[in-house]
Amino acid sequence: MTKHSSYNPSKFKALRVCELPNEITYFDLFLEYDGEMVPYTKGRHQWSTAEKVDLLQSSQFVVFFESSKLGEVQDHLEATTERPVMNTEGFSLVIADGISEFIKARYAFPLIENQAPVFKAMATALSRFLYQQPRIRSLLEQMAEHDPYTFYHCMRTAAYAVTLSDDVKLWDVALGAVLHDIGNLYMSPSVLNRRGPLKPEEWKQVRKHPEDGVELLKNLGLSPTVIDMVLHHHERPDGEGYPHRFKKKDLTLEVRVLSFAEVFAALVTPRPYQAAHSAKDAYELMTTTLAPFLDSSLFASLARLIGLETTQQDQKAS
Ligand SMILES: [Fe+2]
Repeated sequence: MTKHSSYNPSKFKALRVCELPNEITYFDLFLEYDGEMVPYTKGRHQWSTAEKVDLLQSSQFVVFFESSKLGEVQDHLEATTERPVMNTEGFSLVIADGISEFIKARYAFPLIENQAPVFKAMATALSRFLYQQPRIRSLLEQMAEHDPYTFYHCMRTAAYAVTLSDDVKLWDVALGAVLHDIGNLYMSPSVLNRRGPLKPEEWKQVRKHPEDGVELLKNLGLSPTVIDMVLHHHERPDGEGYPHRFKKKDLTLEVRVLSFAEVFAALVTPRPYQAAHSAKDAYELMTTTLAPFLDSSLFASLARLIGLETTQQDQKAS
């Protein structure tokens, strides 16, 4: 295959393979190999379930198109909203879609040199792990059904979490982030997606989701680090979090990385009641209003992740 050009987020956008209907596309699509964009389909291409499953099974969860074709791609997806159900013979489309969201979230920001292969390897490892763990996979599939926002939010959170620090147990961080809100399975969707204030009973239910998560994940062979991440992802460095009002000194770096990534993921994702913040606006909010919730030692990593100038991150850190 001929190399085309390096991945550049201003020139290419990612599209989940699962999003492609079994229709003809008329725009060029590319795959990413070792940080390079290589042509995959050119012009007219008839998609089939078999081809998409082949791509997913070889860990190609996303395809790319040129940013200049954004309007054309959006029109195509809107015009073909009737998606066929894939018969994937045991291939969990829900999980594949979640992993592709994981990859796509990371591609929303400039990839640091040599990071693309590492990131893709992490996605592949997650995918393989989840296929081999039917009970964990089943919990995630239930979550995708119960509250798709939580499912995709967890995948996006994992994508940001694995890039924030070199000093964490990376695999645990990825898995802990993917599973951190699994306790939401016990929460009613109306509470999960409520914008307004919660009644005391509902608030009690919300505060219980970390412990519910641990309950759901017990006896599944997960590491103590992963369980600790699930239990403490709503603690705050100032001691005002829940369930144990731990302070920064009591929280592992893995927990602090997860809480940090989770806030960023929530801010840059649109909700029915709120437009998405830009990455820069999210950074501004996190370094000011939301700072008491967060580990300030991670601001520099976030600035790097979203491509902010070093001078700005230095000013913030000082
Ligand atoms: Fe949570």
